[in-house]
Amino acid sequence: MELPAEFVTLYTGLDRQGPGEPQDVNWAVARLGLGGGLRVCDAGCGSGADLQTLAAALPDAWLEGVDAMPHLVAEARDRLGSRADVRVGDMGALEGPFDLIWCAGALYFLGVTEGLRGWSRALAPGGVVAFSHPVLLSDAEPEAVAAFWQEYPAITRREGLEAQVAQAGFEVVDRRHVIGLPWGRYYDGLARRIEALKPGADAAMAAVLEAAEREISLWHKAPDRIAYLLVLARAA
Ligand SMILES: C[S@@+](CC[C@H](N)C(=O)[O-])C[C@H]1O[C@@H](n2cnc3c(N)ncnc32)[C@H](O)[C@@H]1O
Repeated sequence: MELPAEFVTLYTGLDRQGPGEPQDVNWAVARLGLGGGLRVCDAGCGSGADLQTLAAALPDAWLEGVDAMPHLVAEARDRLGSRADVRVGDMGALEGPFDLIWCAGALYFLGVTEGLRGWSRALAPGGVVAFSHPVLLSDAEPEAVAAFWQEYPAITRREGLEAQVAQAGFEVVDRRHVIGLPWGRYYDGLARRIEALKPGADAAMAAVLEAAEREISLWHKAPDRIAYLLVLARAA
C-alpha cells in the first residue's frame, strides 16, 4: 500500500494508529477462555500495540502480525522483538490456520463480509475472529457523528453490522463498545504528533496536519456518540 510521504510522517512514532486499549484484548481473551499454545494473527497490526498486549495475555501463544505499511511493521518488530513474527503483507490473504485473528480498526479495508469470508479459510477448527469496527449507536445521531463518519457511508447500527457477520457464515459470541477514553487517548497522542510536526511543515504536510486536526475536533464534538463495536465471532 503506497501512502503519501506526509501520512507516513504523521503516522510514525504513535503508540497505535486507531482507538483501542489493552482492556479490549484482555476482555476478548478472558471472554473466549483462550490460553496455551495457540496460533494468533493480528491483522492490520500497525505498530504492534495490541500484539504487545496479546504477548502478555497469551504467554504460550505463537504470534504473527501483518500490516501493509513497512514503516509500521518496522516499529512493531522493534517493539516485539522475537516475541512475534511481524511481516509486511496483505491481511486479505492470510493462510493460518489461526486460533484467533485479532483485527483492531482495520477490517473495513476488506469489507466486513468479504473479509470474514476470506478469514474463515484461515481459521483452525473452533477458531475465532475478534475485530473492532465503526458503529452507529442509534438511527438519529447528531450532525457531528455523520460529519465524523462521512468517509465511511456504509456505517450501520449494531444490528446491521451483525447481519454482515452472519452473511459471512459467522455467529457473534459477544460484543462490546469501544468508546470514550480509548478514543481520547488515541487523539491526544495524534494531537501531540501534529504539534511536533507543525514547525517547518511545507504546504503538503500542513494540509495533512489540518485534515487530522479536523478529524480530532469532530470527535471532540460527540465523544460519547462515536464508537467502535468490538465483535467476537466464530464460524457458525
Ligand atoms: C486504523 S489502523 C489500525 C492499526 C492497529 N490495528 C491499531 O489499532 O493500532 C489500520 C491498519 O490496517 C492496515 N491495513 C489496511 N489494509 C491492509 C491490508 N489489506 N493488509 C494489511 N494491512 C492493512 C493499515 O496499514 C493500518 O496500519
